[in-house]
Amino acid sequence: MGVESLLALMQKRRSIRAFKPEPVSDESIAKIIEAGRWAPSSANSQPWDFLVVRDPITKEKIQSSVQRCISRIKELRDFPFLRTFTGGYMLEAPVHLVVIGDPRFRYVSMMHQVEENIEQFAFWGSVSMAIQNMLLAITALGLGTAVFTNFFPEEVKPFLAIPDPLRIVCILPLGYPNEYREPRPRRPADSFTHLERYDSSKMRSDEIIERAHRDPYGEQVKEY
Ligand SMILES: Cc1cc2nc3c(=O)[nH]c(=O)nc-3n(C[C@H](O)[C@H](O)[C@H](O)COP(=O)(O)O)c2cc1C
Repeated sequence: MGVESLLALMQKRRSIRAFKPEPVSDESIAKIIEAGRWAPSSANSQPWDFLVVRDPITKEKIQSSVQRCISRIKELRDFPFLRTFTGGYMLEAPVHLVVIGDPRFRYVSMMHQVEENIEQFAFWGSVSMAIQNMLLAITALGLGTAVFTNFFPEEVKPFLAIPDPLRIVCILPLGYPNEYREPRPRRPADSFTHLERYDSSKMRSDEIIERAHRDPYGEQVKEY
């Protein structure tokens, strides 16, 4: 595959939050997991497990945690986008692909004795690379998903018999898209690309960051 086709696939990927009832085949799920399997990971630790949920009762239980989490977020701060932000679409997805990380593998690179932040990256970075590989495979298969994190992982773990100290990193709702979404804006490459030395004139101001916090899905997204 040439780089242009790869970029086209990346640009085609969108977070999908509406799904058709049409089932997702085991074969497609195997392909998606195969994509995750080939991700790079810290010291090749491969600190992930993927759990396939099709049972509607389990999905309902997960949904109860989703609803509690979203209510909590709304209590904390009423972002404008939260008015349409219900997480209910998760129930439309025929499959929940639960992404699990194994934090015990943080130590394999020995970076924990050198730099704490790098140690964190060994865990979150490794699992995230598997997720991105899977997102691209999902897009290539004509399926849709969104990285979903609005639930209480410790509440959901018992529903899925996930033992400690494993952690749920996110859930990928999987299904055929029932919506077409225009790409969300991206910052121009020049605004975050630096040559030889960091160009501080490109650093986003605190004011832009604060405005984004006030309305993360608002107009100013175009500026940052
Ligand atoms: C770490 C992470 C967590 C996310 N959590 C959620 C989430 O809980 N709910 C949701 O609807 N989207 C979630 N998203 C999706 C982002 O909102 C989305 O990727 C971003 O707005 C860019 O849009 P795009 O994916 O369509 O390009 C998450 C994405 C990432 C990378």
